[in-house]
Amino acid sequence: MKVAVLGGTGRMGRAIARQLSRHNEVVIGSRDPSRASEAARLIHGATGSDYLGASEAADVVVFTVPYEALGAAAGLAAALSGKVVVSAVNPLRVEAGLLRYGLEEGSAAEELAGLLRESRVATAFNHVSSLFFERDEPVAMDILVAAETRETFEVVSGLVKSIPNLRPLYAGPLSQARVIERMTPLVLNLAKLNKTGSLTTRFVSVRG
Ligand SMILES: NC(=O)c1ccc[n+]([C@@H]2O[C@H](COP(=O)([O-])OP(=O)(O)OC[C@H]3O[C@@H](n4cnc5c(N)ncnc54)[C@H](OP(=O)(O)O)[C@@H]3O)[C@@H](O)[C@H]2O)c1
Repeated sequence: MKVAVLGGTGRMGRAIARQLSRHNEVVIGSRDPSRASEAARLIHGATGSDYLGASEAADVVVFTVPYEALGAAAGLAAALSGKVVVSAVNPLRVEAGLLRYGLEEGSAAEELAGLLRESRVATAFNHVSSLFFERDEPVAMDILVAAETRETFEVVSGLVKSIPNLRPLYAGPLSQARVIERMTPLVLNLAKLNKTGSLTTRFVSVRG
């Protein structure tokens, strides 16, 4: 797949782009194309572009930009029409030394879907610290994916499985992004309060 990572010059964007580049053709998207090219040089086979060029070139687009920058997606609506768009964006704020979810209602992924009405928006990777992706091989983990349809989930699932040791789990329609994004401050606070080092999600199962 040809995958664009918008915000691919940032901490999460660089880390996930490097992992995705094992089995996908990666385009790094930045507001500054020269910064994008610089980041791309460090990733095997990757190229760099501005957001529009990266969006036009890709089949699937991953957003790893700050929540405050999400509005820029409106200008990409035509380029992203019909495409699968994955949001890893978390609206967060700090209060009394702990991270809190930043929205009163809804979710960043649903807001993104509101800006990209012709795209197939999903949420994924929200509570995986970039530290996991900065390792050569990530540890085994579950990636919770919310998407309006199973078909969109299957595309995202393919992307998730292109990274070793990751198991995609379908969480239901995009409204479930409200639950998934709100887990991010919980996971980060658990790590901080219990001094565990970075945590992420992995569910255990039993059949019988
Ligand atoms: N870091 C993590 O471990 C992690 C894990 C999971 C999810 N996320 C999510 O991923 C997103 C990015 O987090 P990050 O830690 O990677 O942040 P970061 O290091 O600050 O990178 C964000 C990137 O977004 C781009 N950007 C576009 N508009 C921007 C604006 N108005 N202000 C600042 N940057 C802007 C910047 O690239 P250009 O300047 O090149 O355009 C920048 O490199 C957040 O929504 C976060 O919740 C992060």
